[in-house]
Amino acid sequence: MTPSGHPTSKIACRGLWKLYGEDPVARLSARGIDLAASDPSAIRAAAAELGVIVAAADVSFTVETGESFVVMGLSGSGKSTVVRCLSRLIEPTAGRVELDGESLLDMSERALIEVRRRRMGMVFQHFGLFAHQTVLENVAFPLKVQGLPKAEQHRRARETIELVGLKGREDSYPWELSGGQQQRVGFARSLAVGPDLWFLDEPFSALDPLIRKQMQTEFLALKKMLRKTVVFITHDFLEAVYLGDRIAIMREGSIVQIGTPAALILHPADDYVRQFTRDVPRSMVLTAGDLAEPIEGAAPSDGHAAIGAETTLADILASVSIHAPTMLVTDATGRPVGRLTAKRLAAALESGEAKP
Ligand SMILES: Nc1ncnc2c1ncn2[C@@H]1O[C@H](COP(=O)(O)OP(=O)(O)OP(=O)(O)O)[C@@H](O)[C@H]1O
Ligand SMILES: [Mg+2]
Repeated sequence: MTPSGHPTSKIACRGLWKLYGEDPVARLSARGIDLAASDPSAIRAAAAELGVIVAAADVSFTVETGESFVVMGLSGSGKSTVVRCLSRLIEPTAGRVELDGESLLDMSERALIEVRRRRMGMVFQHFGLFAHQTVLENVAFPLKVQGLPKAEQHRRARETIELVGLKGREDSYPWELSGGQQQRVGFARSLAVGPDLWFLDEPFSALDPLIRKQMQTEFLALKKMLRKTVVFITHDFLEAVYLGDRIAIMREGSIVQIGTPAALILHPADDYVRQFTRDVPRSMVLTAGDLAEPIEGAAPSDGHAAIGAETTLADILASVSIHAPTMLVTDATGRPVGRLTAKRLAAALESGEAKP
């Protein structure tokens, strides 16, 4: 949010396409297909006939400053492709990408390299560390590339290493570290230059479940402290719910639905989305505010238990008498924002979707 309270877009893409194959644009064009103008389904059909792989299809979304935006979908759905297009590590076939309102695709190669070096940090699934360099050298690498004096490189690298909890391991080599520790080095390296946009492509999927949970918690703490804008890829919906302010669900190169975790659980767009939301412990995710129905007329002043909009269903169940048929949902100032009936609460816990 800006000081005036308006959200500002950090990074956005519009009508983004990535096609793989021999000269796809010219061959599609020969069939009268224009990626910027033709109907997406006609583009897909023509691509399929030509044997062109559609890795990203007409993808559009905006990530606000300070937001954690998760891109989620099955393997091969186009997550890495889209996120790499956002930094132009992959050149989009068509569409627009805007960083702080400026077109990334119109930038010179030189300007782009500067943007990547100073404003973007990236973490990859398989750590991508230099095996023959120490932790300190790995983390200092992007600072070296920036041309900082060696003493400054090391000072800042040490600071970042401490930030991710690896103080004391500066002189270790990657092979002397556990998987979780190696990924911490990956985090430190991506953060060393102080980027304001942080891309993470399945950073925890190579870790075992316990370490993964711990790293997720540490990531959230770090993110909160550093106030980065985050674009995070995962194929684990629970991880997406835990880490994301909003989640974009991808299938076969397209975005199927974008929404808050609660919105996806309560109003899945189709069975593909529903299949991911099914196993979410909804009592831990959904809140009174998510389920509240509007109050018609004046809010009742008595006879209703009042609960805060942020209260999770699990907490409501623990604290409110099951005999209270209707609860009044209030915002942080105590103002009523809606009502929640026990029936609606029970239905949400059962199916997870909002019944009309
Ligand atoms: N260089 C390439 N040449 C041809 N096809 C490619 C290339 N890179 C990716 N693809 C295809 O594009 C599609 C999307 O791939 P992408 O790597 O974006 O998927 P993903 O959602 O990140 O999957 P995963 O979860 O397995 O990492 C896949 O069908 C993939 O095979
Ligand atoms: Mg991927």
